[in-house]
Amino acid sequence: MTRLLVTGGAGFIGSNFVHYMVENSDAHVSVLDALTYAGNRASLDGLPKDRVRFIHGDITDAELVDELFADVDAVVHYAAESHNDNSLHSPRPFLDTNIVGTYTLLEAARKHDRRFHHISTDEVYGDLELDDPQRFTEQTPYNPSSPYSSTKAGSDLLVRAWVRSFGVRATISNCSNNYGPYQHVEKFIPRQITNVIRGIRPKLYGAGENVRDWIHANDHSSAVATILDKGVIGETYLIGADGERNNKDVVELILEIMGQPRDAYDHVTDRAGHDLRYAIDSTKLRTELGWTPSFSDFESGLAATIDWYRENESWWAPAKDATEAFYASKGQ
Ligand SMILES: NC(=O)c1ccc[n+]([C@@H]2O[C@H](COP(=O)([O-])OP(=O)(O)OC[C@H]3O[C@@H](n4cnc5c(N)ncnc54)[C@H](O)[C@@H]3O)[C@@H](O)[C@H]2O)c1
Repeated sequence: MTRLLVTGGAGFIGSNFVHYMVENSDAHVSVLDALTYAGNRASLDGLPKDRVRFIHGDITDAELVDELFADVDAVVHYAAESHNDNSLHSPRPFLDTNIVGTYTLLEAARKHDRRFHHISTDEVYGDLELDDPQRFTEQTPYNPSSPYSSTKAGSDLLVRAWVRSFGVRATISNCSNNYGPYQHVEKFIPRQITNVIRGIRPKLYGAGENVRDWIHANDHSSAVATILDKGVIGETYLIGADGERNNKDVVELILEIMGQPRDAYDHVTDRAGHDLRYAIDSTKLRTELGWTPSFSDFESGLAATIDWYRENESWWAPAKDATEAFYASKGQ
């Protein structure tokens, strides 16, 4: 039996990972989450109380973190300020949580000699041209564009330094864009799905040519579980499922699956410094650790996600009006 501490386990991907581990392992999971606007306790509803414990707290709280690390075998670190748009309007919380928070956890991992896995993003690599045949690999130089991605890049470098300087037993994964259940309605796919459910026209930034490499959150979780089990200490693994799509295609596909005309959406002002294209080459994870994604087909994963938002309006409705009011105030 493994005792895991999952930071940010009430957020989108962290909660998917907690569900995944309860279903696919005998791990006991402690979730540490500050319940910012992005955290939702309800994302952990229905999980067995004898397997999952929730601790409401901040990863920058060194005393609490120290206490929690003493009681577990391994830590998976999801907690972050994660929304690019917010980082453009208010960068400070991104430095506190993503940099100081990660530092606080690393110091505890060092003191207690705990296995540590750091969750990061492909956005640390910057972006690619639309016609560039290359994809990101573990060798791609860091070139982040936004306050969000630069603080994630900084946190990755802290992890590498704590491995090299202090022998912390850590691994890092950089994953492409996730979709699936429990994602906040501020994010691109849930925003469009819940707009259609509410009878609001979807909103597309600019011309919608920006390409993202989509992966279902369940596949991200299985990849992290594989790295925890078989990953080599000090190594970085890129996680992706060959799901490149431009934003215009995604909006049109959502409308089609939801029975609406494919062109029933509006164009809004583009995001400042909007990265053009992300694309992941996950060969290392697949060949060295034997991981494969289960959702190879974006359409079926998207249809399942649309069903989830239709069936779980009580989960997302409380955040919807405030989110749309915020976007409206920015003309988006
Ligand atoms: N969403 C994606 O597509 C994606 C892709 C690759 C990597 N990631 C990474 O995965 C991780 C999780 O992303 P997400 O989309 O689930 O984000 P999210 O915003 O949905 O969840 C973040 C969670 O962290 C918690 N949190 C924030 N600050 C905290 C603090 N100081 N102390 C404790 N808890 C705190 C929030 O309450 C929330 O529950 C992040 O590290 C992100 O960089 C996300």
